Parts: sequence; structure tokens; C-alpha cells
Amino acid sequence: MKIFYKYKIVESSTTATPYRDHHEELAGNTDIDFPKTKEEFFDKFLYQFHGGRTAALDRLCKSMIVEKNILSVASGNFAVELKYEELSGCNIVCSDQYAPRWLEQTKKLFPNLKFTEIDVLSDVPKFQYDAILAFSLIYLFNNKDLGAFFKFSYDSLHSDGRLYLDVSSAETTSGSIFHNFFIPIESNIIALFKSFRHGRRFKVIKTMHGWHHNEQELIRIALDNSLEFVDKKVDGFDVDFARSPLLQRLAKYKFGRYFLNLIGRAMPFNVILIFRKKSIKI
Ligand SMILES: C[S@@+](CC[C@H](N)C(=O)[O-])C[C@H]1O[C@@H](n2cnc3c(N)ncnc32)[C@H](O)[C@@H]1O
Repeated sequence: MKIFYKYKIVESSTTATPYRDHHEELAGNTDIDFPKTKEEFFDKFLYQFHGGRTAALDRLCKSMIVEKNILSVASGNFAVELKYEELSGCNIVCSDQYAPRWLEQTKKLFPNLKFTEIDVLSDVPKFQYDAILAFSLIYLFNNKDLGAFFKFSYDSLHSDGRLYLDVSSAETTSGSIFHNFFIPIESNIIALFKSFRHGRRFKVIKTMHGWHHNEQELIRIALDNSLEFVDKKVDGFDVDFARSPLLQRLAKYKFGRYFLNLIGRAMPFNVILIFRKKSIKI
């Protein structure tokens, strides 16, 4: 488990809180022009969202989920869940620590949306499901929280049920080089360049964004809670590169996209570990 930082370029007088901004955006709580149709909703929150991360989740859901009775925890703006439910005809109960700001507007577009407030770190499950989806959540958790999360998952699953856990940018060597060297160096060069160009000082704000987890460590903590690792799926090879303005320029060209997709294979953003509930608790 390693701390994961984000870097933002701002004017030197700014006291921004980029972590909160980002967190609120992903949870669907920012000021937006709310989509008027289902197509606009999926375009905004699924296909064009967060550097392709949710579009990759959409592809993964189609290729890995077999269960019909599902609980999604930390579902944020529900886009991945609503699309998969529409496609597969399964039944997904969405949940999050707090109801997102756009819940009522989303229900108007999707009257079948089922939502309940669940805090996976403190609530005791009321029902059991065949599968649990946990997408882009555990980067917010340290190892102690992970223990509570896996216990919640175990108690929420029927025997043999499966947990689809999105590691949300796992701890890899290439990922570490990219996040801890490339991005801060690039950010400082851009801040310097902007300062010269605009004649005002720009600086880089570094904020803790969460945790990068090690897969083997996750598998061990899950097994301590009687969840057995069964499979792994990956996608989103160029998602992390959306953080780099330089690499985004490269991504405008066909060769650039091909190149990023190739080197990104060493640091996929969407890593889903699939666990099965053991019938006998350890
Ligand atoms: C990055 S968003 C992910 C949203 C969505 N799953 C996605 O992939 O876009 C993280 C979500 O975790 C939720 N969250 C944080 N702590 C939680 C907890 N203890 N229990 C349930 N949800 C939590 C937040 O409210 C937020 O909606």
C-alpha cells in the first residue's frame, strides 16, 4: 500500500483543494447541466467520463459478470450500473455512503433505478446478493479499512457469491515511475512555462489522493475474510495518461494512441480482482 498523490497547477495565490473537487465530481456532486436524455447521460457519465475509466468498466462488466442479483457499493453517479442493467436485464441495487446530489434527476430518466445509502465501513448488511461490484472505491481505504470492507462484502454475499473489486490503479513499478516522477516533473515544467508566458507566478499543489494497493496484499486481506481470489481482468491501458497534458497531445494522433496503449499495458488503470465467498468461514 502506497500513498497516491495528485498534482495540480494553480496561480501561486490559490488555495485550491483538488482532491475534494475530484472526489465530488466522481461522486456526481458537482454543478453541471444535467443531461436531458438517457443517451446524453451515458455519453457524459460513461463514455466521455474520467479519461475513459468508466468506458473501460463498461467493457469489463459485459465480459465478466454472470450473476443476476447484484449490489453495487460506492456507485457514485450509477452510469456503469445503469448501462449494464439495461444491457443484461439483471437486477442491480446501487448504494453509496451518501445519496448523490443528482439522484432525483437520474430517477426521472431511469425510473427503475434502485438506490440505498450504505457505508461499507460501518453498516451491517441487511440483505445478501449473488455479486457485489465495488468500482473505484478502495483507493480511499487504508489496510484497516480494507479489513472492514472485505468483512462487509463477505456478509453481503450468498455462499459462492462473487466480489468484483476494482483496484483502481494498482501499485505497479511503471505506475510508480509515471505517478511519482513523470507527472511531478511535467507539472513543475508546465508551471514554470506558464509563469514566464503570463508574467505571473504559477505553482504546483501536491495533495494526497488516496492509496495504491498491492494486488498480493489485497488477495491476502480478502482471504483473511474468507474471500478467495479466482480471477483478474484488466482494461483502461491509457486512462492514467489523461493526467499528462503532454501525453494528451500525443493521444491526438493515431500512432500516439497506439504507442500509449502499448506502454500502458504495463500499468492498466482498471484492474478487477474477482473473489468468491468461501462456504466455510476461516
Ligand atoms: C471515485 S467515486 C466512484 C464512483 C463510481 N463507482 C465510479 O466508478 O465512478 C468513490 C465513491 O465512493 C463513495 N464512498 C466513499 N467512502 C465510502 C464508504 N465508506 N461506503 C460507501 N461508499 C463510499 C463516495 O461517496 C464516492 O461516490
